[in-house]
Amino acid sequence: MPLIKLCITPALLLLVLSCPLWQVSQSLPVIKGPMTDSCVIYAGTLLRNISDALKQDQLFMGINCTKQSMELNMETNTPSACAPKEATCTGTAKSEFDQESCLTNIGEDLHHYYKFLTAQPDPDNLLGTVLSSLREFMENCFTSASTDLASEQDAADRQSTFNDRLSLCKVLKGFQVRTITINRVLAYMNSGEHTK
Ligand SMILES: *[C@@H]1O[C@H](CO)[C@@H](O)[C@H](O)[C@H]1NC(C)=O
Ligand SMILES: *[C@@H]1O[C@H](CO)[C@@H](O)[C@H](O)[C@H]1NC(C)=O
Repeated sequence: MPLIKLCITPALLLLVLSCPLWQVSQSLPVIKGPMTDSCVIYAGTLLRNISDALKQDQLFMGINCTKQSMELNMETNTPSACAPKEATCTGTAKSEFDQESCLTNIGEDLHHYYKFLTAQPDPDNLLGTVLSSLREFMENCFTSASTDLASEQDAADRQSTFNDRLSLCKVLKGFQVRTITINRVLAYMNSGEHTK
């Protein structure tokens, strides 16, 4: 979490503080279609549900999840693809924020975690709320990423092994951090809409 703060917050502050408003609105992403207020809400709900799941000791029996390191999804470049570009207030091309690439990366992240979580043994359906808020977020805000959701919904009925639980803990911690990033990015895009 501290890493993300370091990386994103100063850049945002810089952007806000160093540019006159009309220039800011020129270089901010133009919001089209899906990044609406409701997507910001879906992302917030998802984050709260992930944080709740991380407190469910039953999911991590035999493991102190607090002590484990997180495992990030390395198949996407969301933090760099979605970082606000340094605000120069002069160049136009360099200060562009590539919204499409950012959203593509986020969509791939969500799909990756959806696949991972549906494959976890979860006989008591403790991941149910995370999965349903994730599915809702994907279906409403990332239509292209959700095409094959229906076929992936059979979570395993068997009991989890120690290694299942250890891996779930690490991946879920990484998902929490990635979702914090996604929340910041969506709030950033959404605020751009209001300064148009
Ligand atoms: C998921 O998050 C939403 C919004 O905070 C909350 O209303 C809901 O109760 C949460 N679900 C669980 C099981 O925590
Ligand atoms: C898990 O580890 C954290 C950090 O070391 C510690 O504060 C907490 O008491 C531990 N929880 C359990 C149930 O052992």
